[in-house]
Amino acid sequence: MKVIIRKNSAEGSLWAAHYIAARIKEKAARTNDPFVIGLCTGSTPIETYAELIRMVKAGELSFKNVISFNMDEYVGLPVEHPESYHSFMHKYLFDQIDEKPENIHILNGNAPDVEAECAAYEKAILDAGGFDLFLGGVGEDGHIAFNEPFSSLSSRTRVVTLTQDTREVNARFFDNDPSQVPAQALTVGVATVLSSKEVVILAFGSKKARALKDAIEGPMSHYCTLSGLQNHPAGTIVCDENSISEVKVSSYRYFKAVEAAENL
Ligand code: GLP
Repeated sequence: MKVIIRKNSAEGSLWAAHYIAARIKEKAARTNDPFVIGLCTGSTPIETYAELIRMVKAGELSFKNVISFNMDEYVGLPVEHPESYHSFMHKYLFDQIDEKPENIHILNGNAPDVEAECAAYEKAILDAGGFDLFLGGVGEDGHIAFNEPFSSLSSRTRVVTLTQDTREVNARFFDNDPSQVPAQALTVGVATVLSSKEVVILAFGSKKARALKDAIEGPMSHYCTLSGLQNHPAGTIVCDENSISEVKVSSYRYFKAVEAAENL
């Protein structure tokens, strides 16, 4: 696992956006096959998306040959609801880049048969060739996508029940009322994320410090599903001084030494 530490979220987001752009361009230079990316929602990726949008508008990057799959969506929330992940993604990314509408995939939390929806999603990912890169965030309790504590590290796309903690944290988007946050969601599994050739996780701010300590230094455990990244050959966490503040000084120094030695 690599850990990229930047001063703040603005610098970390720039690093992530430029890294993603470089990966998309590198594949485009090598093959005509599409670049398949997993995408996340939440406040964390907004600055990264803003930089990707800037690059597309400046003609420095194109999503014309990119296929995306979002990691999760609430169950039962109308697609047009301002806090649906469909609305979020269109507002903060898709409506401002040149990705083809048919290449955009987001789980349908209103599907009449959610299990069939999840199985079809896994198949669509495989049919697209599997993920080249998965961009994720992390919840305060270490959850990746909506894989709450005690989700199997072998889990695949499925319906999950959200923890009260997550509903309380996400209540800020729902009039500060946790009861308005849907109780269930569809989410890719931990194993779906880890099936990607590489995984980049963004985590900024002191509220993520415990999750990063558990994921980086703790045992690999279903209690902190981001810790599954320890078993991935190409996992990167992009963080800032606040979110990395709980790891040991020796761990911090090592990550900084790797950054310097490898010019990351
Ligand atoms: C939700 C999403 C996660 C996201 C997390 C953190 O739980 N399902 O994918 O990583 O929120 O959100 P934020 O970036 O707003 O802290």
